[in-house]
Amino acid sequence: MKIKNNKLFLGKFSTQSLAKKHGTPIYVYETETIRSQYLKLLKNIAYPKLQIHYACKANTNILILKFFKKLGSKIETVSKGEVTLALKAGFKPKDIIYTSTSVSKDEMAFVIKNKIKVSLDSLSQIELYGKLNPNNDIGIRVNQGIGAGHHDHVITGGIMSKFGIPLEHLNNAKKLAEKYKLKITSLHQHIGSNVLDKNILLKAFDKLLETAINFPDLESLDFGGGFGVSYLPKEKDLDLKTLGTEMTRRMNNFCEKYGKKLDLVLEPGRFLVAESGVLLSTVTEIKNNPKRTFVGVNTGFNHLIRPTMYGSYHEIINTSRAKGLVIKADIVGNICESGDVFGRDRKITSPKVGDILAILNAGAYGYVMASHYNSRSLPREILV
Ligand SMILES: Cc1ncc(COP(=O)(O)O)c(C=O)c1O
Repeated sequence: MKIKNNKLFLGKFSTQSLAKKHGTPIYVYETETIRSQYLKLLKNIAYPKLQIHYACKANTNILILKFFKKLGSKIETVSKGEVTLALKAGFKPKDIIYTSTSVSKDEMAFVIKNKIKVSLDSLSQIELYGKLNPNNDIGIRVNQGIGAGHHDHVITGGIMSKFGIPLEHLNNAKKLAEKYKLKITSLHQHIGSNVLDKNILLKAFDKLLETAINFPDLESLDFGGGFGVSYLPKEKDLDLKTLGTEMTRRMNNFCEKYGKKLDLVLEPGRFLVAESGVLLSTVTEIKNNPKRTFVGVNTGFNHLIRPTMYGSYHEIINTSRAKGLVIKADIVGNICESGDVFGRDRKITSPKVGDILAILNAGAYGYVMASHYNSRSLPREILV
């Protein structure tokens, strides 16, 4: 993706030409960015038995899933719908991990019938799985009391989080597994989303290694996802180089002590797709009150809920104007709620009705969270 004088190109296509040809609102994703993020992970985390399972909750566009398959990635899913899409995209059951919460008997039976690998999130899930499918291998998800993330809503470790089996209950988990002759071959954790501090990720990794030594039948350790990207202009990127070097070193040391080379599974979602996507919209209205200017567009939080739900920052540029007066304005959507704001006090090249605004870094947790609220249609999606 290239930006020059407000002109934004995805592959060889300008956002202007894409908007003209396909209309707005539209999500546009660029495969080259996805590939480069994927390779960045492989290069920096050089552990030989590394397995990347793309966490497809971030973006389940079928073309993107197929692209990950082509890159050699495996996949992580959280629902019957995601498992179905993963199978449709061509992933083999052995390359699909299912990790979910509040799972119904029907959904667990579906996962078992399709021979999908599981990371079980609670004692009751182990019991349910054991009754339906004894004498099998399972993974379990632990909550080690460490959580992090860009917002409370996405912190998935610690006492306030519903996820994982707490350390205090791991003996019960082992007993339940024995009862149903289930072999615990994977330990999983996921502390939260958009973590930019390598130290907290390493702290959680150390804790996972400490826990893992007490599980004799492991074949893999699953670190989960959470690798952050910088959304704010001055935010510092995750130090992937140090993180990768340290994870590899610590994993090698652990395996020597453990007496077996284990797989290291990662489940990145956001890191792989966030920067690949933009949401293009058209300016529909410019409105003033005595204190503020509002630039209204033909999309809203029904299409990209991150600013409203998490207060997240997304860079917004007016791709129709290379030059001109820069104003300060609130960029707002077409949903009838006051919280439908993409950004307050944004510096933007003075827009006119019909201009195309690009909301950047919208490839993760964008379209997948879209709704029909206000009975508006879903946006379109294209991949270049
Ligand atoms: C179990 C699990 N793995 C991976 C992820 C992906 O997280 P991220 O997109 O932050 O990498 C999530 C996100 O919620 C998750 O719950």
